[in-house]
Amino acid sequence: MKGIILAGGAGTRLYPLTIVTSKQLLPVYDKPMIFYPLSTLMLGSIREILIISTPEDTPRIEELLGDGSKFGVDLSYAIQEKPEGLAQAFTIGRDFIGDDACAMVLGDNIFYGNGLNHKLRDARTDAENGRATIFGYYVEDPKRFGIMEFERGDSRTDSLKVISVEEKPKQPKSNYAIVGLYFYPKGVSDMAAEVKPSARGELEITTLNDMYLQQGRLNAQLLGRGYTWMDAGTFDSLQKATDFVSMIEQYQGMTISSPEEIAYHMGWINDEMLAKSVMRYGKSPYGERLKAVLEGKVVI
Ligand code: DAU
Repeated sequence: MKGIILAGGAGTRLYPLTIVTSKQLLPVYDKPMIFYPLSTLMLGSIREILIISTPEDTPRIEELLGDGSKFGVDLSYAIQEKPEGLAQAFTIGRDFIGDDACAMVLGDNIFYGNGLNHKLRDARTDAENGRATIFGYYVEDPKRFGIMEFERGDSRTDSLKVISVEEKPKQPKSNYAIVGLYFYPKGVSDMAAEVKPSARGELEITTLNDMYLQQGRLNAQLLGRGYTWMDAGTFDSLQKATDFVSMIEQYQGMTISSPEEIAYHMGWINDEMLAKSVMRYGKSPYGERLKAVLEGKVVI
């Protein structure tokens, strides 16, 4: 199973903040935004990850994350010359994906909630068995997102039957946004190559999802109460994300979405490697909390 973080885009909604830096390198409280989607893929036990960004931002992201060894993962990088749409990630990533299933997370999407790892593992198993998965999250402003219309299936299994998917509909058929986290079976690059540009000229991920729906191969899971999803792409949502993370981290005294901590608990890095990260982060709260992990004080 492969994973892609799509971390490009012009970031114009955050100007002047993003004139000389990547949106995905901006802070969300105590860590760069890209730590969050990286942690999400890692929670799904995905260790081979391609990061796609702009020609300007890719070297900076690589400087921060390197080859991934400090997180126990294998990172590679690719450039998207122009932001021509989310579905393009799978044609850019064709060689990387090869004959595997592949997940994608958007670089500005933040996920938090106990049990997320189980949902991700279910989606992974389904992708390895030929089915795509999208995730729905209740929103009050459905015109701003990809939206899924669905029926509840068997209540014992939480299964959903997707009826339609639409990108930023004028008359939304539900209040469930399709979040920026997608799982696809092998062959996704070929499917993505068939996606035609939308009226706004983009290769829409929603078109790709609709293709899986038409083939009867699209699953959906809900991220219900107990989960938080945020798209930190605007000033307001970035501020809210920062407030949220600071509140949880200060209340609980634990870090949200630390790739080093996840790698350590997964057994992908050893004490020595974690100790190196603790040294690197010095006296920052992030470093101090990692130290607590190393000392065995935080076990989950
Ligand atoms: O956040 C979830 C939403 O993301 C979904 O509900 C929508 O279905 C999906 O289309 C997308 O909507 P957005 O309006 O948020 O898409 P946006 O163009 O802002 O792109 C999302 C992120 O991906 C953003 O951080 C920039 C990056 N991006 C975008 C495009 C179009 C790229 O890296 N390359 C691109 O070509």
